[in-house]
Amino acid sequence: MKLLVTGGAGFIGSNFVLYMLQQHRDYEIVNVDALTYAGNLENIKAIEQNPKHTFVKADICDAAKMDELIGQGVDIVVNFAAESHVDRSILEPDVFVKTNVLGTQALLDAAKKHNVTKFVQVSTDEVYGTLGETGLFTEETPLTPNSPYSASKAGGDLLVRAYQETFGLPVNITRCSNNYGPYQFPEKLIPLIISKALNDQPLPVYGDGLNIRDWLYVEDHCSAIDLVIHEGVNGEVYNIGGNNERTNLHIIRTILEQLGKPESLITYVQERPGHDRRYGIDPAKIMTELGWKPKHNFETGIRETIAWYLDNKEWWTRIQSVKYEPYYAKQYSQRFEGTQ
Ligand SMILES: NC(=O)c1ccc[n+]([C@@H]2O[C@H](COP(=O)([O-])OP(=O)(O)OC[C@H]3O[C@@H](n4cnc5c(N)ncnc54)[C@H](O)[C@@H]3O)[C@@H](O)[C@H]2O)c1
Repeated sequence: MKLLVTGGAGFIGSNFVLYMLQQHRDYEIVNVDALTYAGNLENIKAIEQNPKHTFVKADICDAAKMDELIGQGVDIVVNFAAESHVDRSILEPDVFVKTNVLGTQALLDAAKKHNVTKFVQVSTDEVYGTLGETGLFTEETPLTPNSPYSASKAGGDLLVRAYQETFGLPVNITRCSNNYGPYQFPEKLIPLIISKALNDQPLPVYGDGLNIRDWLYVEDHCSAIDLVIHEGVNGEVYNIGGNNERTNLHIIRTILEQLGKPESLITYVQERPGHDRRYGIDPAKIMTELGWKPKHNFETGIRETIAWYLDNKEWWTRIQSVKYEPYYAKQYSQRFEGTQ
């Protein structure tokens, strides 16, 4: 079996490539990544010499390249490549539309031309918009994205659906809640808070800190996608979540407690525009129809994650100094000025 995985030098994609090469030792993986600020070859250093893994630096918007790569006997395409950070989508929406919509289309065209047996689009619960205090996102929830990021992901998802309906391409779309775990770029909440807390720096918290996200340990996301590749019914959407809703403030307090750092580091900053209040995933379909079950709950997952960031300080300090500080300064300086 030959897989083309896109975005495999990013957070979830690299975890997925490492996971698949362990689970299916006879599979071949072509890992395509443009190495944007979020891509990092260090994430896949452990498989540098693995003959079953080939890394190709390429942009998924490059239709000719995608055609060439998928034309080399690829059976399955799994599309993780995306611009993925909501805050950046507010600063620069155009790159989100380019990669998340046009890049997806380039992949779909090549997948259709070369008759792949499965195309999995890795999407997000954010396409469903926001929830009130009750209810959960199901696969039937209408798409009502609120940020340029989620709108561009919804655009990609709709193209994937259309290629199944129009051309009979065998597709699945997975929609996952917030992931956390090893190799997550330190702009996202959990690694941001761990790294800032370890350096005794102020921890920026949007608004009142009571926005709720439904957290999933990244390895559980990988096992769900593995299952969808092999057992997913063509054309179906599968929501993936671990029933771990927590407020941002709860996450931050848990990290501070485990690191032995004071709550006085918490600094409330100006709210993010269009900040969705609550996400909650109903994972019943993938659990009952495909038999998926997460192995981690939030308490075990966060302990393992904190331990990983403590053991891999070099990994995140290097990224922060090279790729991240200028953005962090731009993103948060005005917000700290508006500190509540
Ligand atoms: N992180 C989460 O909590 C979460 C939750 C649900 C869904 N998702 C989805 O999962 C996928 C992976 O998310 P992530 O958190 O690993 O993102 P990430 O930002 O860490 O990684 C994205 C990767 O895609 C690559 N990339 C970006 N543009 C590209 C392009 N044009 N061509 C080729 N490669 C390109 C980057 O270099 C990077 O390696 C995304 O599609 C995202 O929408 C993420």
